[in-house]
Amino acid sequence: MRILSGVQPSGKLHIGNYFGAIRQFVALQEQPGNECYYFIADLHAMTTIRSGEELRANSRMVAGDFLALGLDPQRSILYRQSDVPEVTELAWMLSTVTPMGLLQRGHSYKDKIARGIVPNHGLFAYPVLMAADILIVRSDRVPVGKDQKQHLEMTRDIAAAFNQAYEPVLKVPEEMILPEVAVVPGIDGQKMSKSYGNTLEIFAPEAELKKRVMSIVTDSTPVAEPKPTRGNTLYALLKLFTPPEEWPQTKRCFTEGGTGYGELKKRLLGLLLDTFRAARQRRAELERDPGLVEQVLRDGHDRAMVVIGQVMADCRRVAGLG
Ligand code: ADP
Ligand code: TRP
Repeated sequence: MRILSGVQPSGKLHIGNYFGAIRQFVALQEQPGNECYYFIADLHAMTTIRSGEELRANSRMVAGDFLALGLDPQRSILYRQSDVPEVTELAWMLSTVTPMGLLQRGHSYKDKIARGIVPNHGLFAYPVLMAADILIVRSDRVPVGKDQKQHLEMTRDIAAAFNQAYEPVLKVPEEMILPEVAVVPGIDGQKMSKSYGNTLEIFAPEAELKKRVMSIVTDSTPVAEPKPTRGNTLYALLKLFTPPEEWPQTKRCFTEGGTGYGELKKRLLGLLLDTFRAARQRRAELERDPGLVEQVLRDGHDRAMVVIGQVMADCRRVAGLG
């Protein structure tokens, strides 16, 4: 089974990215029969980052973060999207069969406009570029968070439209939205997202992480009283990090009262640091060897090009290019 996914290098990785995406990426490479392609979506990140220096540094940083979190370049193919200009060529070809209405119905685009972001063509055409990422390696499955579901539906529609217009040269992929990948809330209770400034960063210095955890928004229920669990951010975050055998005891701290939010926040911080201790150490080691990350990306590009070369040859042939 060929698996593909991408992450935008639009900022420092947070625990929403980990639970929503990276943890699954790492688990998938362990399964026999899987061939995993993961890439740094720097072309997509251009829709939000306007500094070349920042984007280049972020791409390297996120690639290093992936390696620290367990992505094994022996088993997975890790590459940088912009190292494969064929992606933008395929995006153009796909755009010629993509109905305007399909893109106009895009939730992500509509949300961004609703938040006052001035729309540009890149933002509008974002799903077409994403379809090109997916289709260019003939992926079977695309593991992503729930928020990307519509983008995958669009990809399937776009692939079908291309196949219909020409010949069936593109593989129509399946989505892979794992049920436990619920939206991870941020410290303010909204969806955790770089763009909301409400994240808990995996590789933040310990003191900073502590400050962030302590500022998780809670209600004013007195210590002695039972705490609400529905819509309670601290509860949701503790559930993510608590080993299942310890969960009934932690849950009782909410349902029975007697435990203050401060104490529960300290518990969360401890769990967070334990979970990422090994990754944080590996991250520090990689920082001392920056050439290694570039080497992994170069090698990933060369390996990805084997299938990309075939797909592009097929697409150009049926479309009458070259
Ligand atoms: P951000 O919203 O911080 O910009 P991205 O859009 O770059 O994050 O998301 C990268 C990956 O992480 C995607 O697969 C997305 O589904 C997942 N992801 C991001 N935030 C969350 C979250 N709060 N809960 C679950 N998954 C998330
Ligand atoms: N849009 C995705 C996100 O914001 C990133 C992405 C770009 C992607 N291209 C992709 C994910 C292809 C999966 C497959 O999270």
